Amino acid sequence: MDVFKIQGGNSLCGTVAVSGSKNAALPMMAAALLTDGKTILNNVPDLVDVRTLSSLLTSLGCEISRHGSGSLSLEVVDESHSEADYELVRKMRASVCVMGPLLARRGHARVSLPGGCNIGHRPIDIHLRGFAALGAQVDIHQGDIIVQATQLRGAEIDLAGPNGSTVTGTCNLLTAAVLAQGKSRLTSAAMEPEVVALADLLNEMGAKITGQGTPTLEVEGVSKLTPTTQAVIPDRIEAATLMIASALTRGQLTIQNVNPQHLSAVTAVLQEMGVSIYESGLSQLEIACERELAPVNITALPYPGIPTDIQAQLTALLCTLPGRSVIRDQVFPDRFMHCAELNRMNAKIRQQGDRAFITGVAQLQGAHVMASDLRASAALVLAALAARDETVIHRIYHLDRGYEALETKLNFLGANVTRCREEDVQRRTPIERPDLRRSA
Ligand code: EPU
Repeated sequence: MDVFKIQGGNSLCGTVAVSGSKNAALPMMAAALLTDGKTILNNVPDLVDVRTLSSLLTSLGCEISRHGSGSLSLEVVDESHSEADYELVRKMRASVCVMGPLLARRGHARVSLPGGCNIGHRPIDIHLRGFAALGAQVDIHQGDIIVQATQLRGAEIDLAGPNGSTVTGTCNLLTAAVLAQGKSRLTSAAMEPEVVALADLLNEMGAKITGQGTPTLEVEGVSKLTPTTQAVIPDRIEAATLMIASALTRGQLTIQNVNPQHLSAVTAVLQEMGVSIYESGLSQLEIACERELAPVNITALPYPGIPTDIQAQLTALLCTLPGRSVIRDQVFPDRFMHCAELNRMNAKIRQQGDRAFITGVAQLQGAHVMASDLRASAALVLAALAARDETVIHRIYHLDRGYEALETKLNFLGANVTRCREEDVQRRTPIERPDLRRSA
């Protein structure tokens, strides 16, 4: 297993470009199952999750090839399979996004029921309720979900859950409803830019979807979709992570290939802390720290709120601001595994329920820490960039799932991040101990 060794203390300065969005690319790739012919997606990040979904789609009869930097071609050549391999699905929860397209196009899908998750309880009951509303028979057999229907029919589906709407659920039902007979109305739908990106792709393929970006999606079913070429939107979570890295190291960054509108809640909260953020051009942000930063209280919410996917990174930043902050996560109320690791780096966080109470410290201290999920890993990397001495982050395979070439980008901006094998890392730095026997 790889680890990151990070020597903290350098301010990040320079220009960096954000990659395509992982969470937009995954459902867009799955949507290729809805057509025959070649779907071309540009600006697809080269990540473990993208490769895992590529393997799954290949096992479902798709021919996939990558051209140049970021262009993925997907073509269905065999529609006879509709069962997703357990080994691939268990690696990545987002694999459930093949269910909607398989059901709509092949009339059947069998996918493992996702198991436990480090960021908390993640049921898919709303997806299944939606498929049933569209007329599918839904069964659970030996840990697998089996959905089948000879012809889906348009329906009214409410996507509200106890913690807001569901992003992947909205994507799954959208991709099923586009080929249903008649009209569907999806209420309390997720408004995330990744859902809008999927709806735009489906409309390019000939679907009739309106209302994307609002809580109500209207879908007029069509009998056939045709493949198209579309670019994946910039990754707003990577952009936000870099913005926070800039603030944490009190650096100065120009971040390119962003959609500033997708980042408005993040921009607002960083500005409230005192970070200077300017739009310079259509898809570029300038981040600088021109004054002392102040603590704030934050709640992570569904879009357009502050994303849960940057709650951990914001927590790392708040650990270094003098005074007290509170951060709450209303989307994944148990997503706080990074807090105990940050505390090992001298942070002062007390977690209770869906909140973390943070008292800023003058300086974080390097330590050996363990990444528990993708965004927790990012938070540890950011904390390490600002910490005194060396931090060793174990289990960074989580990070490789969702950030393209993060260490290359950070090192280019002045960070000191080295990837090495776990077995090559010294567990502890020897410390000099006074000879107590002599002084006694
Ligand atoms: N929920 C239900 N029932 C459902 C589905 C969801 O109760 O049927 C609950 C969840 O337990 C959670 C909330 O609804 O409390 C939101 O979950 P959602 O379904 O929106 O999450 P997701 O679609 O599984 C996507 C992203 C996550 C991101 C969340 C929230 C992808 C592949 N994943 O997950 O991204 O945190 O939306 O924005 O798009 C990440 O990239 O690190 C990541 C975890």
